[in-house]
Amino acid sequence: MKAIVAVDLNWGIGCKGKLLERIPDDMKFFKQKTVGKIVLMGRETFVSLPGGEPLKDRLNIVLCEDKQFSDKKITVCSSLNELFGELKKYPTDEVFVIGGEIVYAELLPYCSEAYVTKIENIYEADKYFVNLDEDERWELISTGESKSFNGIRYSLTKYKNNVLQK
Ligand SMILES: NC(=O)c1ccc[n+]([C@@H]2O[C@H](COP(=O)([O-])OP(=O)(O)OC[C@H]3O[C@@H](n4cnc5c(N)ncnc54)[C@H](OP(=O)(O)O)[C@@H]3O)[C@@H](O)[C@H]2O)c1
Repeated sequence: MKAIVAVDLNWGIGCKGKLLERIPDDMKFFKQKTVGKIVLMGRETFVSLPGGEPLKDRLNIVLCEDKQFSDKKITVCSSLNELFGELKKYPTDEVFVIGGEIVYAELLPYCSEAYVTKIENIYEADKYFVNLDEDERWELISTGESKSFNGIRYSLTKYKNNVLQK
């Protein structure tokens, strides 16, 4: 599986249940990568989706301990064990971990790659991604061109997990 995330200069990812920034080009990249695939997220991220609706044209899997939590349009897993059972149905390359902090931290060891949009700004944040530059298991393998949105520079980067290769 792969992680996909947008981080600020402190590897912040969210604040008060929301994203730090919405960059249209990054949203487009996210859509390109994930449409037709499986997106895996925690309940907090699921309830923060626009309109409270699952992401269209993707199989949405949501981790949530509450067995009462259900929705016709999503698959709910109440433990990592249950999740790994469910994921056996799909090619691992097609599974994208899309957040948030808790779920990234739990599943990053199982990710072979991470698509990280780096936003060159500092926001007020209360949720963070693991700093991959300080993690010896992870290696930066590509950095896209530096672009700008509303005066904020950002670039699309890719890391690989040298411990777990796909
Ligand atoms: N920048 C980005 O790319 C990005 C992407 C996604 C999200 N975000 C941000 O991240 C923040 C949300 O992150 P978060 O850490 O608060 O929440 P989260 O990771 O989205 O969801 C956490 C919840 O998922 C459930 N869960 C997690 N692991 C589980 C397990 N092993 N078994 C069963 N249930 C499990 C639990 O729900 P229950 O408590 O219901 O059991 C837990 O409270 C928001 O601010 C969001 O905007 C940023």
